[in-house]
Amino acid sequence: MKSQLLFLAFFLSEIHFIYSLTDPNDATILNALKYAWKNTPPSWEYSEDACSWEGVTCNSSTYRVTGLKLSTMGLEGKLEGDIGELTELTTLDLSSNRGLSGSLSPRLGNLQKLNFLILAGCSFSGDIPDELGNLSELLFLALNSNNLTGNIPPSLGKFSKLYWLDLAENMLTGPLPISTSMAPGLDHLLVAKHFHFNKNKLSGPIPAKLFSSNMKLIHILFDGNQLSGSIPPTLGLVNSLEVLRLDRNALTESVPNLSNLTNIVVLNLALNKLTGTLPDLTQMTKLNYLDLSNNSFEPSEAPTWFSTLPSLTTLVMEYGSLQGPIPRDLFSFPQLQQVKLRNNKFNDTLDMGEHEKISPQLKLVDLQNNNISYVKVSSKYHKSLILRGNPVCNDDTSSVHTYCQIKDQQPIKPNSTSLANCENASCPLDQDRNPWNCECAYPYKGTLSVGGSLLSELSNATVFKLLENSLLMDQSLLPCSIYIQGAIFNGDDYHQVQLAFFPSTGKYFNRSEIQRIGFFMVTQRYRHYGFPQQFETYSFIADPYAFPANGGGRTSIGTHVIIGIAFTCAILVLGLLGVGIYAVRKKKRAEEAIGYSTPFGSWTSSGNDCSGVAPQLKGARWFSYDELRKCTNNFAERNEIGSGAFGKVYRGLLSDGLVVAIKRAQQGSTQGLLEFKTEIELLSRVHHKNLVGLVGFCFEQGEQMLIYEFMPNGTIRDSLSGLS
Ligand SMILES: *[C@@H]1O[C@H](CO)[C@@H](O)[C@H](O)[C@H]1NC(C)=O
Ligand SMILES: *[C@@H]1O[C@H](CO)[C@@H](O)[C@H](O)[C@H]1NC(C)=O
Repeated sequence: MKSQLLFLAFFLSEIHFIYSLTDPNDATILNALKYAWKNTPPSWEYSEDACSWEGVTCNSSTYRVTGLKLSTMGLEGKLEGDIGELTELTTLDLSSNRGLSGSLSPRLGNLQKLNFLILAGCSFSGDIPDELGNLSELLFLALNSNNLTGNIPPSLGKFSKLYWLDLAENMLTGPLPISTSMAPGLDHLLVAKHFHFNKNKLSGPIPAKLFSSNMKLIHILFDGNQLSGSIPPTLGLVNSLEVLRLDRNALTESVPNLSNLTNIVVLNLALNKLTGTLPDLTQMTKLNYLDLSNNSFEPSEAPTWFSTLPSLTTLVMEYGSLQGPIPRDLFSFPQLQQVKLRNNKFNDTLDMGEHEKISPQLKLVDLQNNNISYVKVSSKYHKSLILRGNPVCNDDTSSVHTYCQIKDQQPIKPNSTSLANCENASCPLDQDRNPWNCECAYPYKGTLSVGGSLLSELSNATVFKLLENSLLMDQSLLPCSIYIQGAIFNGDDYHQVQLAFFPSTGKYFNRSEIQRIGFFMVTQRYRHYGFPQQFETYSFIADPYAFPANGGGRTSIGTHVIIGIAFTCAILVLGLLGVGIYAVRKKKRAEEAIGYSTPFGSWTSSGNDCSGVAPQLKGARWFSYDELRKCTNNFAERNEIGSGAFGKVYRGLLSDGLVVAIKRAQQGSTQGLLEFKTEIELLSRVHHKNLVGLVGFCFEQGEQMLIYEFMPNGTIRDSLSGLS
């Protein structure tokens, strides 16, 4: 394949030398991608020079392709292995293109200079190829939110520079691979900060060898898998850790000593089968969000750290065996928002303390189904307190009976950005009101997955002002505004926050802007621009963007036509590659797809409408059948200057005085529309002293004709037959 590609590059180099600066080999690969994918940006049609295409960046002296950033373009198709030939590529971002499917080619492993490989939010399936481990320069790998299966290849442990590894939300199975004397493993990723493996089907124990004190991990997301066995004590060595999520697995035994994890902000061990005493969290003074629900810990009173974790915003320990009193100090943590302790065995007095000391942020205290028989709560307290299912509710006359009623639980809703100033007037269905200037526009929307501890900030929206500010600080992004549309609390402790970005002027973002915002969000570059480090944001997946139809090029054309073009061009490339069999097969499929019946009228006659279906011609034009009939005297015999298996060649005199040779395919030997188009496109580009130039073509009324410059000296037949 490689040698064929080189051959192709060599063959095409002359043509490309004329029209483009892009390295010919790279240009060939990009053209192949262009035809393999639906919905590439219109600039990919308008220009010959691939380095000028939207989403493509090149080295300014070598014209090799160094970046391919096509987030949220609506791309459809497969990621062909040929992309592995773009060996100078440092960034490949195809995120949020749900139409990209098929397997990941092992040849991605040839992209030796790659720093960013971002395929999040597509529909790729199959295994993660072992060869990816060869990407020794990789810093950022995001394969999350695809349909990948199979095991995590141990070769990923070879990424000595990787800081971001996101494999979340796939269907990966098998163990977490660790190194052996024979093979690398994830324990070698000593500079990695993010292990996002959540929501897969990983199984087996969490190997003790996976963790060491040399690691720099800040996020470990292993939740939503089928991991079993005990939590390894070595986890306690990773002092840098800020988010530890092991919830929703099948972990057993007691929690090891984690007291060294003093930087922990989010700790979630819920929905496992952990036993033994409750872990001692006294040292976790930064702990913000804690969930230990649904385990099998030994019955005990509330641990002392219930009164000593000053940063706590959310305490969740549902379906446990806690008994005795609830420490009063808990309610006075200044940032406390939620206390969810239902279905335990608290049986003492509930004393929430003086009203003045209760956290001003407190929004929910859920103590359903405990054994509380007496409650001391200030009459000034008017916030949520749920006591249903406690003995105290058996007494209808109790002063706290109001807390026993079944009320609709008010979920904590983050504020959307206020639209107060743009009242009356509504937008067309497909648009939204830009909250900042009240105009209707097409926002770029997406879902940001955020951690539990962001809750407080979500409810005051300040954090999104910060996010917006950080967007504005990146010089490469045009000013735009962010609007929070609301958050969905998924029930798995990830909050899906809907963001909408509005262009600062006009109705639309252009493709470059979408690509930049997409890359900015998925790589969390906002963290480099003043966005507070302590907020856990995990991933961003954008919705498809409604680019304007008129500038949308091929997006506005019927699907069958696009398929037809893709096949046409695939045939051109593959034909040149000499893959004859393949080409024949494609030809059949292409013919099926488009058929002979496709009216030629759908090609525009201007010949230079690059975005349309018309063939892309250099200097050749379209002729009507009638025009050619006239200029050959109704294809008179005396005008015949040659004939062959393909048909006959006539001499003709055009109305502008030019003498031409017209090659008219014989009925029955006509080729498919696609082959014909391919041929004329090719011929129109080839300029060579031994070849006659193509003047134009005709495809009408079942006729296929090619019109060449007339060469009176008899070489015409040779030339033409050489090309047939
Ligand atoms: C609460 O329950 C525990 C265990 O059943 C018991 O030892 C204790 O006396 C109870 N406390 C009160 C105040 O009922
Ligand atoms: C909103 O969030 C910011 C940033 O975390 C914080 O400084 C501020 O105190 C919060 N305001 C309210 C009213 O909660």
